[in-house]
This record gives sequence, structure tokens and C-alpha cells, in this order.
Amino acid sequence: MKKNIIKHNYNVTRDKRQTLNKHNSFLIWFTGLSGSGKSTLANALENKLHQEGISTYALDGDNIRKGINNDLTFSPEDRTENIRRIAEIANLFVDAGIVVLAAFVSPYKKDRKNIENIVEKDNFVEVFVNTSLEECEKRDVKGLYDKARKGEIKDFTGVNAPYEAPENPDVEVITDDKSIEESVALIYNEIKEKLKI
Ligand code: ADX
Repeated sequence: MKKNIIKHNYNVTRDKRQTLNKHNSFLIWFTGLSGSGKSTLANALENKLHQEGISTYALDGDNIRKGINNDLTFSPEDRTENIRRIAEIANLFVDAGIVVLAAFVSPYKKDRKNIENIVEKDNFVEVFVNTSLEECEKRDVKGLYDKARKGEIKDFTGVNAPYEAPENPDVEVITDDKSIEESVALIYNEIKEKLKI
């Protein structure tokens, strides 16, 4: 903590907010290549949780980079800062008693480790959306792989920038041969106990 900055403790705590909400709060972090299906799965899982009366909020790469992080590029240093800020934002939401679903490429192991340090291990569920580069390029929903292959985008993950796959994710979803419902069920099974106070 910075010198001369002293934390103020408020009476309404995370515990009290969780009790009010009747569920625990934590961060579900989706990592994977661009076009792997992170946002699609986060959206579908959020729908399911919302229908069950769970307070949720979704943070998404493309949206955050249009707002609070619109000063950041895709250089390794800026990606690190991107992820650090998002982890701090997620940490506030978790403290607010909300289940956060965050979908970011987050290609560097050290940056994902930093999220765990910021929100603490118990509050962090890492979901590796493991869709092959081949499949992501085939889908190319946003046309970005095509541009990257033509050399029109530098530092594009999977093409001319690395993706360091998680070795021990809490959930690994190999999407190539699964429906959205099957993938969501896999993640839901992993978190359902964690929701209970
Ligand atoms: S991260 O690497 O810093 O975690 P983030 O998830 O915020 O990335 O943003 C990724 C999204 O930005 C991709 O889904 C894609 O639509 C877009 N994008 C634009 N340029 C790049 C790039 N060079 N590498 C990866 N994604 C990019």
C-alpha cells in the first residue's frame, strides 16, 4: 500500500452483502484465443446464473478496451496492464457480493497468476476455453485472423504473438466437439458448490 494512504473499513462488509444475496461471490475467468468462444460461454453461463437469482456481472475484452482501457495496445506490457486493471475491477465487484464472469484472451501465464494474487486463490476460477487455432481461424467471426495473416495486425495472439495455455486450469472446455449447453454444464458443475454460503 502507498505511503500516507490508509484503508478505511466500512461496516457493510462482503460477508454481509453475500448474506443479503444468499450466495458467495467470486471471479470466473475465461482465457483462450480470440474467437475461441469465451464471451459466448460467459454470456450463456451468466444467463443461467441470472435465472437462478444470482447477482452477476460480465467483463469482456472488446467492451473494456473501448472504455476504461482504451489507452492500451496489444504489446506484452499493455496486455499486462489490461489484465491488472481488470483484475482490480473484478476484485471490487467480488467485494460487492457479485459473481463476475470475465472473458479476456489473457495470453500470459504471469498475468493470470497476478489475477489470482489480486483476487486471492479462493475467489478465482480459471476456465480455459481450449479451441484450436485452426478452428478459431476457420470461424474468424471478426475477420481478424485474415487481417493478421495479411500482416495488417501486429501482435495478434496465435498468429504473431504467443498464447501460453494454462497447465492446471480449474475447468478446461475443449469446445471443438461440444455444444454451448454442454460446455456451460461443465463449468456450472465446477462452480455450483462454490455459490453456496
Ligand atoms: S488481452 O490479450 O489483453 O487479454 P483482450 O481480451 O483484452 O486481450 O482483447 C482481445 C480482443 O481484441 C480479441 O477478441 C480481438 O477481438 C481484439 N484484438 C484486436 N487486436 C488484437 C490482437 N493483436 N491480439 C488479440 N486480440 C486482438
